[in-house]
Amino acid sequence: MIRNVYKIVILAFIFVCYQGCDKQNSKELALHLNDDSLFIKEKVDDLLSQMTLEEKIGQMNQYNGFWDVTGPTPDSGDAAKKYEHLKKGYVGSMLNVRGVKDVMEVQKIAVEETRLGIPLIIGFDVIHGYKTLSPIPLAESASWDLESIKKSARVAAIEAAAAGINWTFAPMVDISRDARWGRVMEGAGEDPYLGSLIAKARIQGFQGDDLSSHETIAACAKHWAGYGFAESGRDYNTVDVGTSTLNNIIFPPFKASVEAGVRTFMNSFNELNGIPATGNAFLQREILKGKWNFDGFVVSDWGSMIEMIEHGFVKDKKQAAEISAIAGSDMDMESYAYVEELANLVREGRVDEALIDDAVKRILTVKYELGLFDDPYKYCNETRETEVTGSEAIQEAVLDMARKSIVLLKNENNLLPLSKSGQKIGLIGPLAADKTSPLGSWRIGADDNTAVSVLEGLQRYKNNAITYAKGADLTIGETLFAIELDINKDDTSGFSEAIEVAKNSDVVIMVLGEHGFQSGEARSRTNLDLPGVQQELLEAVYNVNKNIVLVLNNGRPLTITWADEHIPAIVEAWQLGTQSGNAIAEVLYGDYNPSGKLPMTFPRSVGQIPIYYNYKNTGRPTIPAPKEVFWSHYIDESNEPLYPFGYGLSYTTFLYSDLEVTKASEEVVEVSLKLENTGKVSGKEVVQLYIHDLFATVTRPVKELKGFELVELAPNEIKSVTFKLTKKELGFYNNSGDFVLEPGEFKVYVGGSSKAVLESKFTINNNF
Ligand code: NOJ
Repeated sequence: MIRNVYKIVILAFIFVCYQGCDKQNSKELALHLNDDSLFIKEKVDDLLSQMTLEEKIGQMNQYNGFWDVTGPTPDSGDAAKKYEHLKKGYVGSMLNVRGVKDVMEVQKIAVEETRLGIPLIIGFDVIHGYKTLSPIPLAESASWDLESIKKSARVAAIEAAAAGINWTFAPMVDISRDARWGRVMEGAGEDPYLGSLIAKARIQGFQGDDLSSHETIAACAKHWAGYGFAESGRDYNTVDVGTSTLNNIIFPPFKASVEAGVRTFMNSFNELNGIPATGNAFLQREILKGKWNFDGFVVSDWGSMIEMIEHGFVKDKKQAAEISAIAGSDMDMESYAYVEELANLVREGRVDEALIDDAVKRILTVKYELGLFDDPYKYCNETRETEVTGSEAIQEAVLDMARKSIVLLKNENNLLPLSKSGQKIGLIGPLAADKTSPLGSWRIGADDNTAVSVLEGLQRYKNNAITYAKGADLTIGETLFAIELDINKDDTSGFSEAIEVAKNSDVVIMVLGEHGFQSGEARSRTNLDLPGVQQELLEAVYNVNKNIVLVLNNGRPLTITWADEHIPAIVEAWQLGTQSGNAIAEVLYGDYNPSGKLPMTFPRSVGQIPIYYNYKNTGRPTIPAPKEVFWSHYIDESNEPLYPFGYGLSYTTFLYSDLEVTKASEEVVEVSLKLENTGKVSGKEVVQLYIHDLFATVTRPVKELKGFELVELAPNEIKSVTFKLTKKELGFYNNSGDFVLEPGEFKVYVGGSSKAVLESKFTINNNF
């Protein structure tokens, strides 16, 4: 898309020249300007022709940072072997080497000591920032603000690039309907439409308009594919999904990523319908590189080639390399399979060298696009690194993103916003003063204790008296690699202090939830309550003071059903990154009117999972609920979620009216409505449009998000909003994988959540 826009601008420029200059000159100009990729192709072909088989395979090999690069070089063991490979030109990429000094060190070896001097591409998990952190991706997605999300990725790229990094393993575009899966924190939630737009925004943010700039980095759409559908929400688990879900739910954000010009893909740990993704030719060759014409490269996930042995798909490392290469995995992250086995496989005729050439061309092309051949040290400038890291502009951008990510879940009797003076505030909870947890998971570049805590954020408002009590410990031993996060299940010794504080407060702010390391990779949970003794703490405080504002810090939907019934005000503040406490304080005091909407359904109980708004009706649907028992329901819990997808309140109120559906042409249905701010303060609303295709050859969900717009209104202001629906929004993928639009009746819903309030109908005929 960016490339297309760029091309259009160039062509427009050429056209203007063409009018003024002589014909011959402008033709030459056109050739020159459109020849960028041709130029790179020639260079790549030329370089490839000089490479030995081992050097080619070296480009397909990625190693994790393996020795203290600024210290003595290793002379034995695994690190020594990797070091040797690096010097021979058998390493194409490294991950987890960061900081100008260290990147320079390894890049110098690649460029100055290897025969062909091919630079490394340096990868890193810049998931929601590098050192200065934005909110976790799920939180950012709650903003529904694509420009801000793009900007957040932009500043992350700028800061990471200044530290020598030129490739991020983001965005994760896996759709998930299962909050037990810890990695929902890393994605855009449950919806493929929202997820596709957010994927594009993030890719554009990371990659910018010019990949060769020292401020942009290559993005990576991951995990291809199905990773978010791990059975029972257990990370890395089996994925078995049908064609319709694959085509309509899982694939769209990946397709959108290709359309946005993402330069790399990462495959995934899981098997999909019996075939591990890394060895899956259907995914990588047929769909991605075939049907979608993706011309970047695919990296495996960490060790995922070798893991195919445990999957029971290949018998040894050699077969893992063979199957992966044939299936279209271009780069091996830490399996050692390619570097050790691929050359022999080619010599034995088991892998065609043309496949190796294709993979290497893809990798070299991205390195050229990044400008690494022009200047391999372009990302390595220590002065720039010092100036850019944690700069004011980056802090401001992550603060802005943090404010916009907060979702107001409940606000009985307008308890919020808080009055700015004369209040005795009790601040309670294990996360209230925490300066590490708000950084969330995937923050390997950031230092501990660098987030603004809620306590610090509130202290900026000086005219209220704050008394803080921790009340309980949430975790013991907070580390990314801890095998078991020891959750405190019985230490209530801090309760009495918290109760005393609560008794003497006008209002109590409780900051509870999950520690930043309690969601993320390998952090699946069977229970989505508040971990540890937090629920007991909440109830103990409630018994002495009911005036509670519950601020949630968490990486996924939680089953806070008791809190919803009892606590008057609930603020979903996720893990908001470096500026967390400042953003939360601004919202609590009304300096920022919350506008976030949930990108994922909150269940009432874990047993409802998977629970999502775009479900199918069944032959025995839920609405209206019949009196007898034989319909699709539970006997011990409602079918309804606690908070639906798209839900979120504001300090003001909005009135939706005047829904009109008009057929603007044979290609467009226009849906318009009026939105009025009926409250007393300005506010932003995410106006959402959903459709229901009533009858189709493959059944359609009861609702599908197909449009949204952020609308800002002053009190009493009214604005009209118009959506356009075309084949793109009204069609779907059938079970042959073809995109079709079937004529017939549609319902359309508009409102401030997936429980949209306005409803109408239209019919699509054969001519549409
Ligand atoms: C494993 C994760 O699944 C992937 O998302 C990540 O990018 C790699 N490790 C590299 O850290």
